[in-house]
Amino acid sequence: RFAAVIFDLDGVITDTARYHYLAWKRLAESQGVHFDEAFNEHLKGIDRMGSLELILASATRRYSDAEKLALATEKNEHYKELIATMTPSDLLPGAVAALDDCRAAGLKIGLASVSRNAFTVLDRLGITGKFDYVVDAGTIAKGKPDPEIFLKAARELRVTPDACFGVEDAVAGVSSIKAAGMYAVGVGDPQVLAAADIVIPDLTQFRLEQYK
Ligand code: BG6
Ligand code: MG
Ligand code: MG
Repeated sequence: RFAAVIFDLDGVITDTARYHYLAWKRLAESQGVHFDEAFNEHLKGIDRMGSLELILASATRRYSDAEKLALATEKNEHYKELIATMTPSDLLPGAVAALDDCRAAGLKIGLASVSRNAFTVLDRLGITGKFDYVVDAGTIAKGKPDPEIFLKAARELRVTPDACFGVEDAVAGVSSIKAAGMYAVGVGDPQVLAAADIVIPDLTQFRLEQYK
C-alpha cells in the first residue's frame, strides 16, 4: 500500500541522539541549567535554536539574540567534534537492512531530519546514496512537530502523504508524521511514542509487511 518511506536520522539510523544529548548537557550546565535524560527527551527532533530556547527558559537570566547565537554555535562546534570520527560502524543495528528491504519492495526513500548536520552524518555513515531525497533542513521554516518537513519530503518524492510512512524516535517527530497524514512507525519506548501507529524497539525489528 505504501509508495514511500521517510526516515528520521538522529536516534533512528545512528546514535547521534547521544551526541546531541552530550553537547546540550555541557552547554546547559555551563549556563547553570540542570540537564538530564528526561529533559533531553523534549529536545529530540527539535531544531537547534528551538532546543536552545527550551534550555534557556530554565536559566536565571535573559539572553540577547547575539548571546543565543554564540551559545548555539558553541553547542554545534562541540557536536561537530563528536561526529567527526563517525564511520559506517556507527550505523545502528538493522538500519541498512531496513533501508535495503524498503528498496527491494520498490519504495522511494526519503530522509527528514531537522539537523543541519544531516548531510555530513549521512556521508560519514556512507549511506547518502541509499536515499532518493534528503530534505535540506536549512530550507524548512517550521521544524518538528510541524508537518512541513515530512510533507516536503513526500512532495519531492512525488508521492501523496497517505502513501507514505515515517520512521521516528522523537515525540515531536511522531507528531510531525501524524500531522502530515502519514502512518508512523515509532522507534523506542511505546509509552513515550504512544501517538505512533506501531512502535518497535529498534530497526532490527523493522518489518515492512506489518505496516498498513
Ligand atoms: C534533530 C535532533 O535531528 O536535529 C535534535 O533530534 C537536534 O536533537 C536537531 O537538535 C538539530 O540538529 P543540528 O545538527 O542542526 O543542530
Ligand atoms: Mg530523531
Ligand atoms: Mg531528526
